[in-house]
Amino acid sequence: MLSEKSTATVRATLPAVGAAIGEITELFYARLFTAHPELLRDLFNRGNQAAGLQKQALAGSIAMFATHLVERPDTRPDVMLNRIAHKHASLGVTREQYAVVHEHLFAAIVEVLGEAVTPEVAEAWDEVYWLMANALVAIEARLYAEQQVAAGDVWREWRVAGRIEETADCATFQLVPADGAPAPDFRAGQYVSVQVALADGARQIRQYSLSTAPGSPVRAITVKRVHGGATPDGEVSNHLHAHVRAGDTLRVSAPYGDLVLGDSTAPVLLASAGIGCTPMLSMLEHLAETGHRAPVVVVHADRSPADHALRADHRRLTGKLADAAAHFFYEQGAEEGDRTGLADLDALPPLAPGTRAYLCGPLPFMRAVREQLLARGVPAADIHYEVFGPDLWLAS
Ligand SMILES: Cc1cc2nc3c(=O)[nH]c(=O)nc-3n(C[C@H](O)[C@H](O)[C@H](O)COP(=O)(O)OP(=O)(O)OC[C@H]3O[C@@H](n4cnc5c(N)ncnc54)[C@H](O)[C@@H]3O)c2cc1C
Ligand code: HEM
Repeated sequence: MLSEKSTATVRATLPAVGAAIGEITELFYARLFTAHPELLRDLFNRGNQAAGLQKQALAGSIAMFATHLVERPDTRPDVMLNRIAHKHASLGVTREQYAVVHEHLFAAIVEVLGEAVTPEVAEAWDEVYWLMANALVAIEARLYAEQQVAAGDVWREWRVAGRIEETADCATFQLVPADGAPAPDFRAGQYVSVQVALADGARQIRQYSLSTAPGSPVRAITVKRVHGGATPDGEVSNHLHAHVRAGDTLRVSAPYGDLVLGDSTAPVLLASAGIGCTPMLSMLEHLAETGHRAPVVVVHADRSPADHALRADHRRLTGKLADAAAHFFYEQGAEEGDRTGLADLDALPPLAPGTRAYLCGPLPFMRAVREQLLARGVPAADIHYEVFGPDLWLAS
């Protein structure tokens, strides 16, 4: 909890810091990457940096945490902290690095706000930073311990046992530990980070959801190649598509992620769009394997059946469940039994009471589905989602 003195100072300066936080984080990253170029090359996603997305995510999370401390001091924004900690753990972030971030963040605050940063103001925001950092470090320590790895030591070599072309732009890479040791446990819905060496010497990292169930003999990721157009082509997805074949090795992290199926017998909705189907496939396979008996509704939206990666598995696994229906929505080329247009829950039979919803896809898709779920009386706490990028939704 924030001390009484700092609470008053943070409350008084929150509007000024909030208004300048975009500028502060921009300067922070510039300072951080000047002092430590290796962090931009080998740890941070330089596409997100160029597009300004990570800046927004960091700024939003700090502003939200500070607001929480002064407005609701008896509670903690655990959902947000968990989401960040899982991402950090999948990247191997360590306690020592928080001091490095602190140094450059506070230098940026002083540079942007100037004389307004009195010793009292600096002390109060220092307290905010370390409350947040220590909360994250504690969760990350637990996550490393759960995977039985030393802090930050999450990387292992995996061999690509098979590669399957799913659609024109999506390929599945089947993975087995290169050293023959058992694969680490994970929960359906979780992801791994993959680090690849690029032509310019950078070792960039991206996350990919595991698309098979924890009990499956095959561990797999399904990667959609990102075409740029006005912006550059996606670096890692195109690298994987162009260069990685059966027999190659990949550097893959231990599995993390907080979008996981609860151990419950409740009815389930799995709603995805585009490549957002990957965590849903893992969950679906897990539900089928564990003999889930409550109703399961599968909703998927895509441009066309030909663009729908893992379409046959999506149907096959739904068919294995005791009480499940799949509804596929396509903007074009819908076949018999499919629907034409964008995903629309209002076109489906009512959901069973007590349904837990899991969403993954582009933000406009998830926003629309969430609105429909709330309108149908599904409590916000029962709606879970994954964003395939920095989670700007959470902090907003
Ligand atoms: C938890 C999680 C799970 C995920 N699961 C999956 C999955 O199962 N399957 C999957 O395919 N993906 C998944 N993703 C997405 C994946 O991690 C990558 O983001 C995706 O593959 C794109 O990475 P990339 O390196 O190819 O593109 P990047 O190089 O990161 O580029 C991303 C975007 O930024 C744009 N960009 C780059 N440079 C600039 C610039 N200078 N100015 C403006 N824009 C720029 C690019 O044009 C592109 O549109 C997941 C992401 C997360 C966070
Ligand atoms: C209190 C301190 C910190 C805060 C508030 C913070 C906040 C965040 C947030 C909000 C995200 C986006 C999470 C998401 O995907 O939704 C993130 C991602 C990330 N963080 Fe942190 N972080 C902190 C410390 C650190 C440290 C010490 C490091 C290591 C140097 C670090 C490295 C990263 C990286 C590499 C990503 C992923 C970036 C990307 O892929 O674009 N963070 N962090």
